Amino acid sequence: MKLVRTLKELREARASLAEPVGLVPTMGYLHEGHLSLVQAAHRSCASVVVSIFVNPTQFGPQEDLARYPRDLQHDLDLLEKENVDIVWAPEDGEMYPPDYQTWVSVENVTRPLEGELRPGHFRGVTTVVSKLFNTVQPQKAFFGQKDAQQAQVILRMVADLNFPIDIQICPIIREADGLAMSSRNTYLSPAERQAAPILNRALLSARSLYENGERNAAVIKNSLQDIFKEEPLARPQYIAVVDPATFEEIGIIQDKALILLAVYFGKTRLIDNLILSGK
Ligand code: PAJ
Repeated sequence: MKLVRTLKELREARASLAEPVGLVPTMGYLHEGHLSLVQAAHRSCASVVVSIFVNPTQFGPQEDLARYPRDLQHDLDLLEKENVDIVWAPEDGEMYPPDYQTWVSVENVTRPLEGELRPGHFRGVTTVVSKLFNTVQPQKAFFGQKDAQQAQVILRMVADLNFPIDIQICPIIREADGLAMSSRNTYLSPAERQAAPILNRALLSARSLYENGERNAAVIKNSLQDIFKEEPLARPQYIAVVDPATFEEIGIIQDKALILLAVYFGKTRLIDNLILSGK
């Protein structure tokens, strides 16, 4: 495994990789969710590149950029065990030199929910992911359903800008108690950590309503509000039922729907989601 920190080193290391090359973009502080993407990449690619870059442009001014957890050595140890070929961990100045002034932004699908609550977030994501695609030139790239809106935004960008890259969206990996794995789970106090599986329980209860024939999104959302009222540590920011491709809110579910949660525990904001599908 080769750790590369400059574009020059990346180009040299990239040139000797066996094709097809799979890219797994991350912000580090890796857990089993990230590693599941690496494993998926190995299943269909001859070489795997993992990027680790805490991308400053996707954090708002009030967000957690400075305290975002980082542990490069631990990440490298995990990736070594996963037989990764290249770890691309650029310095901030390598990605955004002082005269940087070019942005990629996707329109409609970035507007609601995460886009509305985190202005500029998706512009930062699509810009850095474009730069990772251009620097690594992978044939495939792997993203998690955990960040459902991000996954759709990337699919839209790749289609609209004709990136010759096959995007794979991989399932959410959870802790034994159902909490979706996330680098931000480390911010939770012990009491908050104990309360946090309520997100998954709420999603499963929505699924059982759906499986019992409920198709009215308002009824499903109200029942989730009631579940969260029982947990004083949890403060839902949004509970949404949307079209999985456009992220537009749905009133009556016709076929498929995506149910999305953003919930605060103290200052920590957790997101989770579940697809409701008749098939
Ligand atoms: P990060 O939060 O580090 O996540 C990297 C990738 O891991 C994303 O595609 C995310 O959806 C996926 N992931 C996170 N938790 C997961 C889980 N529990 N199960 C499955 N996949 C999971 O998302 C980002 O970084 C950044 O926005 C990035 C795309 C790297 C651009 O900076």
